[in-house]
Amino acid sequence: FGHVQQTFEGIKDIVVAAAWAKSYDGYKLYRLHPTSKDQVELLKKIENADKIDFWSHLRFSGQPIDVMVEPTTQDAFTWFLNMQGIKYDIAIDNIERIVNEERMQQMLAPRSDSGSISFSKFNRFEEINAYMDKLAADYPKLVQLETIGQTTEGREMRVIQISTKRGSRKPVIFVDAGIHAREWLAPAQALYLIKELVENEANRHLLEKVDWHILPVFNPDGYEYSHTKARFWRKTRSNQGACKGTDANRNFGYHWGEVGTSDSSCSDIFRGPSAFSEPESRAVRDYILYRQNQIKLYLTFHSYGNYLLYPWGFTSALPHDDKELRSLGEKVNNAIVAAGGNSYTIGTSTNVLYPAAGGTDDWAKGVAGVELAYTIELPAGGSGFDPAPSQILGHVQQTFEGIKEFGKYIEYKF
Ligand code: ARG
Ligand code: ZN
Repeated sequence: FGHVQQTFEGIKDIVVAAAWAKSYDGYKLYRLHPTSKDQVELLKKIENADKIDFWSHLRFSGQPIDVMVEPTTQDAFTWFLNMQGIKYDIAIDNIERIVNEERMQQMLAPRSDSGSISFSKFNRFEEINAYMDKLAADYPKLVQLETIGQTTEGREMRVIQISTKRGSRKPVIFVDAGIHAREWLAPAQALYLIKELVENEANRHLLEKVDWHILPVFNPDGYEYSHTKARFWRKTRSNQGACKGTDANRNFGYHWGEVGTSDSSCSDIFRGPSAFSEPESRAVRDYILYRQNQIKLYLTFHSYGNYLLYPWGFTSALPHDDKELRSLGEKVNNAIVAAGGNSYTIGTSTNVLYPAAGGTDDWAKGVAGVELAYTIELPAGGSGFDPAPSQILGHVQQTFEGIKEFGKYIEYKF
């Protein structure tokens, strides 16, 4: 009976939560199969339409492109595709169904009791904070927490510093995740990294010569909003006039406002009214600048698509150390593939993905002088945006094997 009761409580929660959330009823996920660069160019015309949401990146690679479309726009959308001769099929007939399924899995997963962390669900911001507090209490010699700023809605942005020596001058690897709210696998990956570095004795060697500073949730307002209100929210939650939120990964002050950004507050790639308009961007900027000589590697986790990207995103020109960035990327990829993960596409953002200015990685390299900077687009979900909760652990374990290679490289180079 206890189990039945618990399940009933869970279902009640789901019904209550669903009633408050934005409905994706009738939204469809179209899987497009463009067969030429010309067809991709045509798709670019509708790339930033409000009711059309490109989940995968718009480029010609022989890979299908996933697009979520609102019910009222579907006729026009398919008419456009047919007219241009772009083949497609329907990957998800009703997005609300998979949102509900995920919500159900999330809610039926056991609640993490104070301080434990689970990799069979996506943890809420509060659970993540409780886990970090627990680590700080249990490993006072190894772990320090620093609040680096406050979000628009007043949440604390917290960095966990993992170091065998307080106040050390070791090289630092700075990692963030979750700048884009809906990319839930990214904070999960950061948390797994934290867990392995702190709780797994077998990984102590990764701390011998290097300190790790990790911000697991860059955009907590957006993250919570995507959990409770709109699953596919991407931006921050600042007030911007017509619509809310800024794409913090278009908000950094290096070639800000240039290619691949929008000046419309309703766009998902809205760059903000000015560079560093977002408190979240400023907090990360200041944290990195304060340690700019010590930070030797910057990693930022996103999902999805299996890309290992490095600067530049604002130009197709290659950085002076393209060869080094690529070969380190290859080492990382080899380790992930050896662990059973899917292979990554490696290259500069502009050349292998798309141009987009104002990203954190470009700024880290171009302004803060952190020469080694990567955006890691983690693996895709089976059907939805992120993998089903039951698949999280496998993914984060495989990717961790690659992250170790980053650690080894910094240890060897500095
Ligand atoms: N998917 C990421 C984004 O759209 C890729 C960012 C790559 N970095 C860059 N500077 N453009 O934000
Ligand atoms: Zn992203």
